[in-house]
Amino acid sequence: MARVPGDKSISHRAILLAAMARGRSRIERVLVAGVTQPMLDALPRLGATVHLEGETLTVESPGFRAWRAPEGPIDCRHSATTMRLLAGALAAAGVPAVLDGSPGLRRRPMRRVVAPLQAMGVPIQDTDGHAPLYLQARDPRRPLRGGRFSLPVASAQVKSAILLAGLAAADPVEVLEPGPSRDHTERMLRSLGVNLEGLGPGHVRMTPPKQDLPPLHLRVPGDISSAAFLIVAAVITPGSEVTIEHVGLNPTRTGLLDALRAMGARIEVELTGEEAGEPVGRIRVQHSPNLQGTTVEGDLVVRMIDEFPVFAVAAAYAQGVTVVRDATELRHKESDRIARLVEALQRLGVDAEERPDGFLVRGGAGVEGGRVHAHGDHRLAMALAVAGLNATGPVEVLGGEMYRESFPAFPQTLQALGARITEALR
Ligand code: S3P
Repeated sequence: MARVPGDKSISHRAILLAAMARGRSRIERVLVAGVTQPMLDALPRLGATVHLEGETLTVESPGFRAWRAPEGPIDCRHSATTMRLLAGALAAAGVPAVLDGSPGLRRRPMRRVVAPLQAMGVPIQDTDGHAPLYLQARDPRRPLRGGRFSLPVASAQVKSAILLAGLAAADPVEVLEPGPSRDHTERMLRSLGVNLEGLGPGHVRMTPPKQDLPPLHLRVPGDISSAAFLIVAAVITPGSEVTIEHVGLNPTRTGLLDALRAMGARIEVELTGEEAGEPVGRIRVQHSPNLQGTTVEGDLVVRMIDEFPVFAVAAAYAQGVTVVRDATELRHKESDRIARLVEALQRLGVDAEERPDGFLVRGGAGVEGGRVHAHGDHRLAMALAVAGLNATGPVEVLGGEMYRESFPAFPQTLQALGARITEALR
């Protein structure tokens, strides 16, 4: 039996919407980790009062229309979600602000969020398509423009920034995407009474509310993207049988389960209820000795966009070829997750090959030991640690402490399941 921390995406939205709402919000099982810390740190600087006790967060806010301008830049550190979602929220508030981050975050694409916000009338500039982002003050009597935004790449962060800015728009906001990106923002806004309709796959329309957003009261489901490491660990490790409780099962996030099942993995899912407008349940996984290679492409890529590093580890144990295509977006994550992943797998003796829009693994031989780098990428760090579970020699992950970004109890959780994993003291 295992538990995973609160969902990163839902936590980010809950923290931010609690500050955008007016009144006292309470969020349980919020993810307190490296990625959410910059979002939590930003709130008091905007005028909200934040109280965190364990994993329970209370936020008292005057609502985004009464936010004050933060003094000095907001440091989003490594978190693109913080930067992109805050850009949308600050645009709605109309306060001047500077959003900056780590050197890694400064390398990630920001024009994709700045361009639609500018089209809505937001006075925002990027720096050659990157952070820092500069927002100027906007006259609060002049609402933003709504309209229809067609995203060239499916991105929940960009969609969310547009919807959050749209809360201060004069007319409806429509977002169209080429694939089914995660819809947590839509679900949470709906639960707050905002009129949001789905007009078809990847097509949503929001009518901006006239009133303030009411406070939130919710419990964050466990993160399926963190559960992913335990799922693959169980799939590849002889004798395993692992049950993970209270995991978010939003269909825009469960692509990994479909891909692993297509490989022949023994996974059972049981829906147990709903939290925060999100389906939650239990996932039971057993060692799966007869994995076969598979192809992952199209919408399935979007539904498992954060899971490719650990999926590739499963592919190393699957007979035959596993192909990932339509996944160029992986090059714009915390690291270039095509190049860095393939490089690490090769170092561990896996027959892997980089493709412009994905990668290929000729599996079946498993993993050898070796020394690899996390490249500042939490999901690469954890996936490579999982790769070590059944390797023929020890696997050493340099920079492996990045797990603290999204899954602070990762080593302890694996140890409790029987893994031998140690963290070198530095
Ligand atoms: C996220 C959306 C995805 C995902 C990221 C979190 C979110 O990014 O990779 O980890 O919370 O909206 P994109 O929106 O860039 O696809």
